[in-house]
Amino acid sequence: MLDKIEVHNRIETPEMKDYGVYLSVDRLLQCQKRLADLSTPDELQFQIVHQIEELWMKLMAFTLAEIDGHMAARETMRVLTLFGRVHRIMQLMTDQLALLETMSPFDYQAIRLLLGNGSGQESPGFQLLLTLPQPLWARYKTVYLDAAGRSVADVYDTGYRHDDAYMVAEAMVEFDELFQLFRAHHIQLIHRSIGMGSKSLKGRPVELLNAGMRHRFFPELWDIRCEMTDRWGAEYGVKRASISGASAAGHGSGL
Ligand code: HEM
Repeated sequence: MLDKIEVHNRIETPEMKDYGVYLSVDRLLQCQKRLADLSTPDELQFQIVHQIEELWMKLMAFTLAEIDGHMAARETMRVLTLFGRVHRIMQLMTDQLALLETMSPFDYQAIRLLLGNGSGQESPGFQLLLTLPQPLWARYKTVYLDAAGRSVADVYDTGYRHDDAYMVAEAMVEFDELFQLFRAHHIQLIHRSIGMGSKSLKGRPVELLNAGMRHRFFPELWDIRCEMTDRWGAEYGVKRASISGASAAGHGSGL
């Protein structure tokens, strides 16, 4: 049998050897409410998941600033490695939302009463992240496009070489895509916990979040795909002839 009080004591007074000192484990474990003050046992998970997400966003923002410097020096290998790191963090952020799906809607209502007017929209990490892609795009454009007299259409289509300009652009597209996947999973989490028809703690309909889902950081890199499909498709007009000689295909055949 476990002595819960003793376990709680040991959690809150960690033994601080070199490992603990280097990582400031004592201070880290004080960043959550005291265990005796939790409104429900699920509140600890709620706080920890949000705090970990802030840490991941800190690491992502830091890494994106590093990427900008390496782009400026056109150190593409380093840019790609660091984008790989950012992508993995983004995936972790999304996967970790699932932890909160183990919390019942009832238990969450008790926690929500304590949040004041706070909402994820005020997350410092998220607000910072939203401001970084635009300057990063300006850097990409200056270094990989303008300096070489190239355009996005050239990199992807007319002068396509699967080169460094293409690889960095695809890394940016992947970041954009993973960011949207985070938003999509977050919306699913809201469906599970408070329902999408409700109002946020700021009194806004949570459906406003759907607008964010349609946002793209690098629209030029998405638009080029549509332009290419139309340009290449112009070869056969609006509808192409069947390659099997069978009658025209129906809906859903436009691969
Ligand atoms: C039970 C869990 C959660 C619920 C019920 C929830 C609910 C909500 C709601 C209702 C909003 C809209 C706020 C408004 O319009 O003022 C929101 C926004 C947001 N939440 Fe959560 N959230 C949860 C977990 C999380 C977690 C773990 C994160 C981690 C980062 C997070 C990050 C955000 C962010 C960044 C926004 C702003 C999103 C945007 O502008 O697209 N949320 N959340």
